[in-house]
Amino acid sequence: MTVTIAFDVYGTLIDTHGIVVALSERLGDRASEFSRRWREKQLEYSFRRGLMQNYVDFSVCTRQALDYTNSSFESPLGSQDLEGLMTAYRKLPAFADVEDGLAAARKAGHRLFAFSNGRADSVEALLTNAGILSYFDGVVSVDEMKSFKPNPGVYGHFLRKAQATGSDAWLVSSNPFDVIGAISAGMRAAWVKRSADALFDPWGIEPTLVVRSVAELAGRIGQLRA
Ligand code: LAC
Repeated sequence: MTVTIAFDVYGTLIDTHGIVVALSERLGDRASEFSRRWREKQLEYSFRRGLMQNYVDFSVCTRQALDYTNSSFESPLGSQDLEGLMTAYRKLPAFADVEDGLAAARKAGHRLFAFSNGRADSVEALLTNAGILSYFDGVVSVDEMKSFKPNPGVYGHFLRKAQATGSDAWLVSSNPFDVIGAISAGMRAAWVKRSADALFDPWGIEPTLVVRSVAELAGRIGQLRA
């Protein structure tokens, strides 16, 4: 049986904290804290908009979270800086383990999809810039559902688009909320725990698999099926 894998994009394939390089020019040693707060606010805005059924393009959540974060740091960045950061956000790097991991998963015969809160054209541009678009059979975006992860409807949408069922489809994500969302919607899910101190939410809903990198994934899925 062919396994279908939905890779989360921001934070799993693509390193959102890669933006620290651009932020450092203006913010020095506050760049990491700024990047973390920006990312947390971006996700919070997507969760709230999903609940409120007040959908906007994910890039609007990103931009509004950037404005909020800048204000919370007492506005060190001007409008040109903010535009520059939004441009840099479309050219973020892939994590170092990703390309080998995608190549191994393809070699194992799996079907690979990118599955993201981002709009499909934004995700395609991002993956093209990172040099990894060619590994994927397709890109599925929540935009077609006008909601965000972890709404169960968006995982169902992925399964329909990929023509897969929950028992043969995996979500692969570094974001615990995404892993829990996928399992709760009937998929299998691997948590990519790149850092030893990353924490998983204590909800009693465990990942099907925990890996330290995307490079470990294909082998571990193979072992489970053997
Ligand atoms: C994504 C968000 C979760 O790429 O980062 O879907």
